[in-house]
Parts: sequence; structure tokens; C-alpha cells
Amino acid sequence: MTEILRIAMPKGRIYKKAATLFKQAGLLLPEDLDDSRKLIIPVPELQMEFIMAKPVDVPTYVEYGVTDLGIVGKDVLEEEHRDVYELLDLQIARCRMSVIALPTWKPIMNPRVATKYPNIASKYFRERGQQVEVIKLNGSIELAPLIGLADRIVDMVETGTTIKENGLVEMETMFHITSRLVANRVSYRMKSEAIQRLCDQLGACIADNVEVKGA
Ligand code: PRP
Repeated sequence: MTEILRIAMPKGRIYKKAATLFKQAGLLLPEDLDDSRKLIIPVPELQMEFIMAKPVDVPTYVEYGVTDLGIVGKDVLEEEHRDVYELLDLQIARCRMSVIALPTWKPIMNPRVATKYPNIASKYFRERGQQVEVIKLNGSIELAPLIGLADRIVDMVETGTTIKENGLVEMETMFHITSRLVANRVSYRMKSEAIQRLCDQLGACIADNVEVKGA
């Protein structure tokens, strides 16, 4: 019997890069997958079914086994702490998690830190013995220091355009981020053949991409 692999695909900034990688591996995804309002997209010719997910929810789908696999940024994995098996570093959607502030920032007691990543931010400052008040926001984090909500922010930096256009500076890089292929632990055993085949196909392209960039 042919095994169908169910894969949670993040909508948005990672999707196009993931689709390019799949294409390089000879796995052609429908062109309009990301633009469509359809949430479950079967691709029978690949024996795959794609679930178009909000990036932050991908590890949840995978942990509960409603999808066998998922593609997700290391930022989300670090924030969500879901029980999933990390199979491959896809080396795409490269960016970093940073502490950002206004250039006029001065150290104060108990500073406020705004972020979409409260677990990551709390852990980071706790490990450095710095007491901070973490404020959870859901987007446009760069606004927080500009309007006096927070002294610093913890956010993702990709090109650096957003912080530059808002007159902010990167104070510290916390860690580097790339997208990962993750698996449900049971699926990894039950569908090992199909999953291993996909890993081999993607893995070969990742190695090629890294070689080209390094040249
Ligand atoms: C992310 C992140 C930064 C920006 C960084 O926001 O939170 O704001 O991208 O990218 P850059 O360094 O290339 O400018 P996103 O676009 O996901 O939107 P959001 O502000 O609603 O979170």
C-alpha cells in the first residue's frame, strides 16, 4: 500500500523557500499553494498531502500526529517546546533572533522587553541573571520602543530593513535561525521508508545549495 505523507507547510515567508527546495528535489508543488484559501491540498502524484498552517502552529500539528511532518523555523521550535523529532536543517529562511533597542537606550532596573517570543526572551535574560519584564505582542514589535511600551525588543532580523527603517539598533545576536523538517515520533517509525526517501531527496539538495553558497 502506498503511504501518503501529510506535511504541515508554513504559510508566508518560509513557504516560497521551502517550495523551491522541494522543486530542486524534483518534488513539484502546485504554483498557487500559498495564495489559495484552501487549507488541505492533496498532491497525489507525490503521495503527499499539504496542510497550509500558521507557522507557529506547525509543531502542534506534528506533535499531535495530525501531520507526519512539518516545516518550521528554529525560532518557533525554541518558543513552542513541542515534542517533535527534528530531522533535517533545511538551511533555508536564514535569519537571527536579536535583542534590539533605540540607539539612545540606557541600562535601567527591570527593563520592559516586548516580543512575540516570551519563552525565548525570558530564558535568555534569566540565564544572564538580568531581571526583565517581558511583554507579549503579536506583531509589529519594532513599534514598542518607538512609542515607549518597552526599552528593548527581542525579535527576528532577516535583512535588517525593519530595524533600520525604524531607527533601531541590534544590540546582541541571540541565536541563528533556519527552517527545519520535523516529524511526529510515531510517524517516523510507521512511515520510515517514505520519510527517509524524502529526507534523502531534500538532503542532497541542501548539500548542493550549501556547496554553491560556499564557492
Ligand atoms: C518579522 C520580524 C521583523 C521583520 C524582520 O516580522 O518580526 O519585524 O520580519 O525582517 P527584516 O530584517 O527583513 O526587515 P513579520 O514580517 O513576520 O511581521 P510582524 O511584524 O507582523 O511580525
